[in-house]
Amino acid sequence: SGSGILVVGSVNVDLVLSVPRHPEPGETLLGTGSRRSPGGKGANQACAASLLGGDVRFAGRTGTGADADLALELLRRAGADLSATTEVPDVETGLAVVTVDEPGENSIVILAGANGTWSPEHVDALREEVAASGIVVSQGEVPAPAIDQLARLCAEAGTRFLLNLAPVIDVRERTLTTADPLVVNESEGRLVLEAMTGTAAPVDDAMTVHALRSAGIPSVVMTRGAHGAIASHETATTEITSPTVTAVDSTGAGDAFVGALAVKLAQGHGLDEACRHAARVGAFAVTRPGAQPSYPDDQDDLPTQARG
Ligand code: RIB
Ligand code: NA
Repeated sequence: SGSGILVVGSVNVDLVLSVPRHPEPGETLLGTGSRRSPGGKGANQACAASLLGGDVRFAGRTGTGADADLALELLRRAGADLSATTEVPDVETGLAVVTVDEPGENSIVILAGANGTWSPEHVDALREEVAASGIVVSQGEVPAPAIDQLARLCAEAGTRFLLNLAPVIDVRERTLTTADPLVVNESEGRLVLEAMTGTAAPVDDAMTVHALRSAGIPSVVMTRGAHGAIASHETATTEITSPTVTAVDSTGAGDAFVGALAVKLAQGHGLDEACRHAARVGAFAVTRPGAQPSYPDDQDDLPTQARG
């Protein structure tokens, strides 16, 4: 297999509303601005990887019409190969309503739309691309049976499979133990562990990562926002710090991390080094509004690693 990155995943239009704070249930709140921009965890990760110089092919499913064009615009401009992306008739392009408060925290409601139409048969059509890729990347915004099939194809072809299980969905255990790495945030990591073991996960992040490894996942990356990440593979578990930055909008910063991670792994770097770079890319994305519009390319100066 080569050094190409195949991202099989979601693509959305993000309707981003700026709010002074998040609304309470039953509350009506005045927003201060709105914007529509490309989003979806799959498209975001593919866009980040492409901007950073990765050889990226994106397989996604959209509706027809203007929303599909908007959703793919930055990915196209970043130079990603979209020949495996399909327009599905009679269904809407995925939509995310994102509210971002003054400290830059977001909350997101998603309508799957065309992303929900991914089937194992659609994944089977990618068999040759999977075998020809250096790494395959997916997320939890496409239905579990499609992800399970993708993991099977990766295992058969011997292609590395990076699974960002965001959100956590009910994939097969074999899919989790094919992930190398599984990338999750703190709460996602606990949910996956509880699903695998049937017992309550530890409160401690490093202990949760260890337990995920013991449950049979070859490598695990836990992202921890401003606290950086924990990377665990074979015998080494490493805490990775994140550069200290002033947050503007954290939407899609985790996706920038995953995209950067995929680029470094495809280039043959080790997991720790790849995570260190990814943390800097994620920190850069936090300092600017939006998801894809906030991603660096390989000419941008990344924030430097904090000591610690
Ligand atoms: O991770 C951020 C993304 O989550 C947004 O772009 C939104 O589309 C949702 O998929
Ligand atoms: Na951002």
